Amino acid sequence: KINIKGKNFLTLADFSPEVINGLLLKAKKLKSASLLGYHSTPLKGKILGMIFEKSSTRTRVSFEAGMLQLGGNALYLNSQDLQLGRGESIADTAKVLSHYVDAIMIRTFSHHTIEELAYHATVPVINGLTDLFHPCQALADLLTLQEKKGDLPGLKLVYVGDGNNVAHSLMIAASKIGMDITIACPVGYEPKKEIVKTAKEFATGSGSNVTITNNAAEAVNGADAIYTDVWTSMGQESENKQRLKVFSSFQVNESLVQNAKDDFIFLHCLPAHRGEEVSADVIDGPNSAVFQQAGNRLHVQKALLSEIM
Ligand code: CP
Ligand code: NVA
Repeated sequence: KINIKGKNFLTLADFSPEVINGLLLKAKKLKSASLLGYHSTPLKGKILGMIFEKSSTRTRVSFEAGMLQLGGNALYLNSQDLQLGRGESIADTAKVLSHYVDAIMIRTFSHHTIEELAYHATVPVINGLTDLFHPCQALADLLTLQEKKGDLPGLKLVYVGDGNNVAHSLMIAASKIGMDITIACPVGYEPKKEIVKTAKEFATGSGSNVTITNNAAEAVNGADAIYTDVWTSMGQESENKQRLKVFSSFQVNESLVQNAKDDFIFLHCLPAHRGEEVSADVIDGPNSAVFQQAGNRLHVQKALLSEIM
């Protein structure tokens, strides 16, 4: 029993391993059904409002397509076109939108913004990425790992790159579910200390390990999966030049992946920059599962939407 009706989905830290596994199972069922061309429509008449303060391809289209497949509707709300862009408060926006829509998805900068939105909204709020977390992405990542590797507990996932929102959500997801996770990043670009602490607590409960290191070559030793993300996230564009320098020895390429298991899979939340965080031969090579991973955004979010609304 998943039982998350009416709840906010801001971070996976708020959900039990049972709920996370339940959502993955539901996503799997929805995926098989939809591959057979069958879409059940439990969200007939329901509307999702989607506020975007940053760009998006996957999140926007998978949420919108997912809502339509479930029988509902989705509204794309660019924050620049809303009064939000002219200074109307998040609190007032939350209270007003709650009269019109059945749930709100938001992609924003500060995690504080989504917390404030959720506090003032009377409908569930879903995190479509903040500077701190990207939990829908982590759900899709877990589903992809399960499809490619089977049982998650005991697997070794190695994330190479920036200790960012994607890394944070992966740490929470892995430690909740009992998968070992190593984050390899340059000095000064480690994940936030409080997130590491939280993930380590979850790992104690699930019997897994969370490791933070500055040595990528050592980290990927025996990896079942290697994951990377852009070096410069949305909102950090002014740091791009500096980051290219700092991260140059953290590229996931043929030489780095030598130390992983032969059947390792390569994951990336996309969009990717070939020649920066990943070489073309790895992301377009036989071990890459990035498009299956992107596709799985649709299925995990359909599971989430149908349970939360
Ligand atoms: N991975 C991801 O969230 O992609 P978009 O930025 O295209 O939504
Ligand atoms: N870390 C990236 C993820 C994009 C999906 C960003 O925040 O821009």
